[in-house]
Amino acid sequence: MILVTGATGLVGGELVRRLSDRGFRVRALVRNAGTSNAAKASALAQLPGVEIADGDLAQPATLASALRGVDRAMLISSSDAAMRDVQCTFVDAARAAGTGHVVKLSGIMPELDSPFRFARMHGEIEQHIEQSGVPFTHIRAGEFMHSYFRQVPSIVKSGALRLPMADARIASTDIGDIADVAADILTGPGHEGRIYPITGPESLSMAEVAVKLSAATGLEIRYVEVSAEDFIAGRLAAGASPYAAEGLAELFAERRKGKEATVYPTIETVFGRHPTTFDEFARRHAAIFRGEQPAPRL
Ligand SMILES: NC(=O)c1ccc[n+]([C@@H]2O[C@H](COP(=O)([O-])OP(=O)(O)OC[C@H]3O[C@@H](n4cnc5c(N)ncnc54)[C@H](OP(=O)(O)O)[C@@H]3O)[C@@H](O)[C@H]2O)c1
Repeated sequence: MILVTGATGLVGGELVRRLSDRGFRVRALVRNAGTSNAAKASALAQLPGVEIADGDLAQPATLASALRGVDRAMLISSSDAAMRDVQCTFVDAARAAGTGHVVKLSGIMPELDSPFRFARMHGEIEQHIEQSGVPFTHIRAGEFMHSYFRQVPSIVKSGALRLPMADARIASTDIGDIADVAADILTGPGHEGRIYPITGPESLSMAEVAVKLSAATGLEIRYVEVSAEDFIAGRLAAGASPYAAEGLAELFAERRKGKEATVYPTIETVFGRHPTTFDEFARRHAAIFRGEQPAPRL
Protein backbone atom coordinates (compact mmCIF):
# COMPACT_ATOMS: atom_id res chain seq x y z
CA MET A 1 0.00 0.00 0.00
CA ILE A 2 1.22 3.49 -0.92
CA LEU A 3 0.19 6.48 1.22
CA VAL A 4 0.00 9.90 -0.45
CA THR A 5 -0.17 12.97 1.78
CA GLY A 6 -1.11 16.37 0.38
CA ALA A 7 -3.59 14.42 -1.75
CA THR A 8 -6.03 17.33 -2.13
CA GLY A 9 -3.23 19.58 -3.40
CA LEU A 10 -1.59 20.10 -6.78
CA VAL A 11 1.18 17.48 -6.87
CA GLY A 12 -0.45 15.01 -4.46
CA GLY A 13 -3.69 14.99 -6.46
CA GLU A 14 -1.82 14.35 -9.71
CA LEU A 15 0.20 11.62 -8.01
CA VAL A 16 -2.89 9.79 -6.72
CA ARG A 17 -4.41 9.87 -10.23
CA ARG A 18 -1.21 8.56 -11.84
CA LEU A 19 -0.76 5.74 -9.31
CA SER A 20 -4.40 4.75 -9.77
CA ASP A 21 -4.01 4.81 -13.58
CA ARG A 22 -0.98 2.54 -13.26
CA GLY A 23 -3.02 0.03 -11.25
CA PHE A 24 -1.55 0.54 -7.77
CA ARG A 25 -3.41 0.59 -4.47
CA VAL A 26 -3.26 4.03 -2.91
CA ARG A 27 -4.35 5.50 0.40
CA ALA A 28 -4.88 9.26 0.18
CA LEU A 29 -4.46 11.18 3.43
CA VAL A 30 -7.12 13.91 3.56
CA ARG A 31 -7.80 16.14 6.54
CA ASN A 32 -11.42 17.03 7.21
CA ALA A 33 -12.44 14.36 4.69
CA GLY A 34 -16.01 14.41 6.00
CA THR A 35 -16.42 18.17 6.13
CA SER A 36 -14.49 20.91 4.26
CA ASN A 37 -12.64 18.44 2.01
CA ALA A 38 -15.64 16.10 1.46
CA ALA A 39 -16.02 16.86 -2.26
CA LYS A 40 -12.30 16.36 -2.99
CA ALA A 41 -12.20 13.19 -0.84
CA SER A 42 -15.14 11.69 -2.67
CA ALA A 43 -13.62 12.52 -6.11
CA LEU A 44 -10.39 10.77 -5.07
CA ALA A 45 -12.29 7.80 -3.62
CA GLN A 46 -13.97 7.17 -7.00
CA LEU A 47 -10.58 6.45 -8.63
CA PRO A 48 -9.80 2.71 -9.02
CA GLY A 49 -7.69 1.35 -6.14
CA VAL A 50 -7.92 4.53 -4.05
CA GLU A 51 -9.08 4.67 -0.43
CA ILE A 52 -9.25 7.69 1.86
CA ALA A 53 -7.67 8.03 5.31
CA ASP A 54 -9.06 10.95 7.25
CA GLY A 55 -6.01 12.37 9.01
CA ASP A 56 -4.04 15.45 9.93
CA LEU A 57 -0.26 15.66 9.60
CA ALA A 58 -0.24 17.71 12.79
CA GLN A 59 -1.98 14.97 14.79
CA PRO A 60 0.13 11.81 15.30
CA ALA A 61 -2.86 9.82 16.57
CA THR A 62 -4.53 10.10 13.17
CA LEU A 63 -1.33 9.11 11.36
CA ALA A 64 -0.87 5.75 13.12
CA SER A 65 -3.98 4.30 11.48
CA ALA A 66 -3.29 6.02 8.14
CA LEU A 67 0.17 4.40 8.08
CA ARG A 68 -1.00 0.87 8.98
CA GLY A 69 0.11 -1.56 6.25
CA VAL A 70 1.85 1.18 4.27
CA ASP A 71 5.09 0.19 2.50
CA ARG A 72 5.92 3.54 0.95
CA ALA A 73 4.69 7.08 1.56
CA MET A 74 4.78 10.42 -0.26
CA LEU A 75 5.27 13.44 2.00
CA ILE A 76 3.76 16.75 0.85
CA SER A 77 2.17 19.59 2.77
CA SER A 78 1.42 23.28 2.20
CA SER A 79 4.01 26.06 2.12
CA ASP A 80 2.89 27.56 5.40
CA ALA A 81 4.26 28.34 8.84
CA ALA A 82 3.53 24.79 10.03
CA MET A 83 5.34 23.01 7.16
CA ARG A 84 8.45 21.97 9.08
CA ASP A 85 6.58 20.82 12.17
CA VAL A 86 3.87 18.82 10.40
CA GLN A 87 6.32 17.11 8.05
CA CYS A 88 8.67 16.18 10.91
CA THR A 89 5.66 14.87 12.85
CA PHE A 90 4.81 12.66 9.87
CA VAL A 91 8.39 11.35 9.62
CA ASP A 92 8.32 10.38 13.32
CA ALA A 93 5.00 8.60 12.79
CA ALA A 94 6.38 6.80 9.72
CA ARG A 95 9.40 5.63 11.71
CA ALA A 96 7.15 4.39 14.53
CA ALA A 97 4.96 2.55 12.03
CA GLY A 98 7.93 0.91 10.30
CA THR A 99 7.16 2.51 6.92
CA GLY A 100 9.68 1.20 4.40
CA HIS A 101 10.34 4.35 2.35
CA VAL A 102 9.39 8.05 2.62
CA VAL A 103 9.58 10.19 -0.54
CA LYS A 104 9.68 13.90 0.24
CA LEU A 105 8.63 16.69 -2.10
CA SER A 106 11.32 19.26 -1.33
CA GLY A 107 12.51 22.50 -2.90
CA ILE A 108 15.33 22.99 -5.38
CA MET A 109 17.53 24.88 -2.86
CA PRO A 110 16.94 23.39 0.61
CA GLU A 111 19.70 25.38 2.29
CA LEU A 112 19.72 25.59 6.09
CA ASP A 113 21.00 29.20 5.94
CA SER A 114 18.81 30.38 3.04
CA PRO A 115 17.19 33.83 3.28
CA PHE A 116 14.02 32.10 1.94
CA ARG A 117 11.98 30.67 4.83
CA PHE A 118 10.65 27.60 3.02
CA ALA A 119 14.08 26.66 1.67
CA ARG A 120 15.35 26.62 5.27
CA MET A 121 12.38 24.48 6.34
CA HIS A 122 12.91 22.03 3.48
CA GLY A 123 16.56 21.76 4.53
CA GLU A 124 15.56 21.05 8.14
CA ILE A 125 12.94 18.49 7.11
CA GLU A 126 15.40 16.71 4.80
CA GLN A 127 17.89 16.58 7.67
CA HIS A 128 15.23 15.19 10.04
CA ILE A 129 14.34 12.48 7.52
CA GLU A 130 17.98 11.54 6.95
CA GLN A 131 18.59 11.28 10.70
CA SER A 132 15.39 9.29 11.31
CA GLY A 133 16.75 6.09 9.80
CA VAL A 134 13.69 5.73 7.53
CA PRO A 135 14.75 4.94 3.94
CA PHE A 136 14.12 8.12 1.94
CA THR A 137 14.23 9.87 -1.41
CA HIS A 138 14.17 13.66 -1.78
CA ILE A 139 12.58 15.17 -4.87
CA ARG A 140 14.01 18.70 -5.04
CA ALA A 141 11.59 20.43 -7.37
CA GLY A 142 12.08 23.78 -9.07
CA GLU A 143 9.37 26.39 -9.54
CA PHE A 144 6.05 24.86 -10.58
CA MET A 145 4.85 26.16 -13.97
CA HIS A 146 1.43 26.37 -12.27
CA SER A 147 2.80 29.34 -10.27
CA TYR A 148 2.21 31.51 -13.36
CA PHE A 149 -1.54 31.08 -12.79
CA ARG A 150 -1.11 33.73 -10.07
CA GLN A 151 -0.54 36.16 -12.95
CA VAL A 152 -3.89 35.47 -14.64
CA PRO A 153 -5.74 38.51 -13.18
CA SER A 154 -2.93 40.83 -14.33
CA ILE A 155 -2.69 39.15 -17.75
CA VAL A 156 -6.45 39.42 -18.30
CA LYS A 157 -6.63 43.01 -17.01
CA SER A 158 -3.59 44.54 -18.67
CA GLY A 159 -1.60 41.90 -20.58
CA ALA A 160 1.17 42.14 -18.00
CA LEU A 161 3.32 39.53 -16.28
CA ARG A 162 4.22 41.52 -13.19
CA LEU A 163 7.12 39.94 -11.27
CA PRO A 164 10.26 41.08 -9.40
CA MET A 165 12.58 38.93 -11.52
CA ALA A 166 14.77 41.54 -13.28
CA ASP A 167 16.54 39.71 -16.15
CA ALA A 168 17.00 36.47 -14.23
CA ARG A 169 16.26 33.10 -15.77
CA ILE A 170 14.37 30.24 -14.19
CA ALA A 171 13.90 26.57 -15.09
CA SER A 172 10.29 25.86 -14.10
CA THR A 173 8.70 22.43 -13.96
CA ASP A 174 5.35 20.90 -14.84
CA ILE A 175 3.64 19.37 -11.80
CA GLY A 176 2.57 16.36 -13.90
CA ASP A 177 6.24 15.58 -14.51
CA ILE A 178 6.95 15.79 -10.76
CA ALA A 179 4.01 13.44 -10.09
CA ASP A 180 5.31 10.96 -12.69
CA VAL A 181 8.77 11.00 -11.12
CA ALA A 182 7.24 10.49 -7.67
CA ALA A 183 5.13 7.60 -8.97
CA ASP A 184 8.23 5.98 -10.52
CA ILE A 185 10.11 6.27 -7.20
CA LEU A 186 7.19 4.94 -5.15
CA THR A 187 6.72 1.90 -7.37
CA GLY A 188 10.21 1.04 -8.55
CA PRO A 189 13.49 -0.17 -7.03
CA GLY A 190 16.79 1.60 -6.47
CA HIS A 191 15.78 5.08 -5.31
CA GLU A 192 16.51 4.78 -1.56
CA GLY A 193 18.99 7.39 -0.32
CA ARG A 194 18.85 9.29 -3.62
CA ILE A 195 18.34 13.04 -4.00
CA TYR A 196 16.89 14.18 -7.31
CA PRO A 197 16.89 17.80 -8.49
CA ILE A 198 13.96 18.16 -10.87
CA THR A 199 13.44 21.04 -13.31
CA GLY A 200 11.93 21.60 -16.71
CA PRO A 201 14.12 21.41 -19.83
CA GLU A 202 14.83 25.13 -20.37
CA SER A 203 15.84 28.19 -18.39
CA LEU A 204 13.74 31.18 -19.42
CA SER A 205 13.76 34.92 -18.76
CA MET A 206 10.40 36.50 -17.93
CA ALA A 207 10.48 38.25 -21.33
CA GLU A 208 10.71 34.78 -22.95
CA VAL A 209 7.91 33.45 -20.74
CA ALA A 210 5.75 36.40 -21.86
CA VAL A 211 6.44 35.60 -25.53
CA LYS A 212 5.48 31.97 -24.98
CA LEU A 213 2.28 32.88 -23.11
CA SER A 214 1.39 35.34 -25.90
CA ALA A 215 1.87 32.67 -28.57
CA ALA A 216 -0.23 30.13 -26.65
CA THR A 217 -3.11 32.47 -25.77
CA GLY A 218 -3.24 34.82 -28.76
CA LEU A 219 -3.05 37.72 -26.27
CA GLU A 220 -0.37 40.37 -26.22
CA ILE A 221 1.49 39.70 -22.96
CA ARG A 222 4.59 41.58 -21.86
CA TYR A 223 6.88 41.32 -18.85
CA VAL A 224 6.72 44.25 -16.46
CA GLU A 225 9.36 44.27 -13.74
CA VAL A 226 8.02 45.33 -10.34
CA SER A 227 9.80 46.15 -7.09
CA ALA A 228 9.68 43.70 -4.19
CA GLU A 229 7.48 46.22 -2.31
CA ASP A 230 4.96 46.47 -5.17
CA PHE A 231 4.99 42.69 -5.53
CA ILE A 232 4.17 42.21 -1.82
CA ALA A 233 1.41 44.84 -2.05
CA GLY A 234 -0.02 43.00 -5.07
CA ARG A 235 -0.03 39.64 -3.28
CA LEU A 236 -1.70 41.18 -0.21
CA ALA A 237 -4.35 42.80 -2.44
CA ALA A 238 -4.94 39.36 -4.02
CA GLY A 239 -5.74 37.98 -0.56
CA ALA A 240 -2.40 36.43 0.46
CA SER A 241 -1.41 36.59 4.12
CA PRO A 242 1.56 38.83 5.05
CA TYR A 243 3.49 35.63 5.91
CA ALA A 244 2.89 34.15 2.44
CA ALA A 245 3.53 37.44 0.59
CA GLU A 246 6.81 38.05 2.43
CA GLY A 247 7.86 34.44 1.86
CA LEU A 248 7.31 34.87 -1.88
CA ALA A 249 9.31 38.12 -1.86
CA GLU A 250 12.21 36.26 -0.19
CA LEU A 251 11.94 33.58 -2.86
CA PHE A 252 12.04 36.06 -5.73
CA ALA A 253 15.06 37.79 -4.20
CA GLU A 254 16.84 34.44 -4.46
CA ARG A 255 15.57 33.87 -7.99
CA ARG A 256 16.80 37.32 -9.05
CA LYS A 257 20.29 36.12 -8.10
CA GLY A 258 19.87 33.26 -10.60
CA LYS A 259 19.41 30.62 -7.87
CA GLU A 260 16.83 28.69 -9.92
CA ALA A 261 18.35 29.18 -13.38
CA THR A 262 20.11 25.82 -13.65
CA VAL A 263 18.49 23.14 -15.80
CA TYR A 264 18.74 19.63 -14.36
CA PRO A 265 18.10 16.86 -16.92
CA THR A 266 17.00 14.31 -14.27
CA ILE A 267 13.50 13.74 -15.71
CA GLU A 268 15.06 12.50 -18.93
CA THR A 269 18.34 10.99 -17.78
CA VAL A 270 17.16 9.13 -14.65
CA PHE A 271 13.50 8.53 -15.42
CA GLY A 272 13.55 8.36 -19.23
CA ARG A 273 10.64 10.77 -19.52
CA HIS A 274 10.02 13.77 -21.76
CA PRO A 275 10.17 16.92 -19.62
CA THR A 276 7.28 19.25 -20.45
CA THR A 277 8.37 22.47 -22.17
CA PHE A 278 6.88 25.83 -21.23
CA ASP A 279 5.28 26.03 -24.71
CA GLU A 280 3.50 22.72 -24.09
CA PHE A 281 2.36 23.82 -20.64
CA ALA A 282 1.12 27.22 -21.93
CA ARG A 283 -0.78 25.64 -24.85
CA ARG A 284 -2.41 23.06 -22.55
CA HIS A 285 -3.62 25.77 -20.17
CA ALA A 286 -4.27 28.61 -22.65
CA ALA A 287 -7.92 28.89 -21.57
CA ILE A 288 -6.86 29.48 -17.95
CA PHE A 289 -4.35 32.16 -19.00
CA ARG A 290 -7.07 33.86 -21.09
CA GLY A 291 -9.30 33.87 -17.99
CA GLU A 292 -11.86 31.57 -19.66
CA GLN A 293 -11.43 28.75 -17.14
CA PRO A 294 -10.75 28.93 -13.40
CA ALA A 295 -7.17 28.29 -12.27
CA PRO A 296 -6.58 25.66 -9.59
CA ARG A 297 -6.15 26.96 -6.05
CA LEU A 298 -2.54 28.01 -5.40
N1 LIG B 1 4.99 26.09 -5.77
C1 LIG B 1 6.23 25.82 -6.17
O1 LIG B 1 6.71 26.41 -7.16
C2 LIG B 1 7.05 24.78 -5.43
C3 LIG B 1 8.28 24.39 -5.96
C4 LIG B 1 9.02 23.40 -5.28
C5 LIG B 1 8.52 22.84 -4.10
N2 LIG B 1 7.32 23.26 -3.62
C6 LIG B 1 6.82 22.63 -2.38
O2 LIG B 1 5.68 21.83 -2.70
C7 LIG B 1 4.87 21.70 -1.52
C8 LIG B 1 3.44 22.03 -1.86
O3 LIG B 1 2.99 21.13 -2.85
P1 LIG B 1 1.63 21.40 -3.62
O4 LIG B 1 1.69 22.76 -4.27
O5 LIG B 1 1.32 20.21 -4.44
O6 LIG B 1 0.63 21.46 -2.40
P2 LIG B 1 -0.68 22.37 -2.24
O7 LIG B 1 -1.44 22.38 -3.54
O8 LIG B 1 -0.28 23.66 -1.60
O9 LIG B 1 -1.50 21.49 -1.20
C9 LIG B 1 -0.99 21.19 0.06
C10 LIG B 1 -1.56 19.88 0.49
O10 LIG B 1 -1.07 19.58 1.81
C11 LIG B 1 -2.22 19.31 2.62
N3 LIG B 1 -1.93 19.62 4.01
C12 LIG B 1 -1.36 20.74 4.51
N4 LIG B 1 -1.30 20.68 5.85
C13 LIG B 1 -1.85 19.49 6.20
C14 LIG B 1 -2.08 18.84 7.43
N5 LIG B 1 -1.75 19.41 8.62
N6 LIG B 1 -2.67 17.62 7.42
C15 LIG B 1 -3.03 17.03 6.25
N7 LIG B 1 -2.84 17.59 5.05
C16 LIG B 1 -2.25 18.81 5.04
C17 LIG B 1 -3.31 20.19 2.05
O11 LIG B 1 -4.56 19.78 2.53
P3 LIG B 1 -5.83 20.79 2.59
O12 LIG B 1 -6.55 20.61 1.27
O13 LIG B 1 -6.61 20.28 3.73
O14 LIG B 1 -5.30 22.18 2.79
C18 LIG B 1 -3.09 19.93 0.57
O15 LIG B 1 -3.58 18.66 0.21
C19 LIG B 1 5.46 22.66 -0.48
O16 LIG B 1 6.27 21.94 0.41
C20 LIG B 1 6.30 23.60 -1.35
O17 LIG B 1 7.33 24.22 -0.62
C21 LIG B 1 6.57 24.19 -4.26
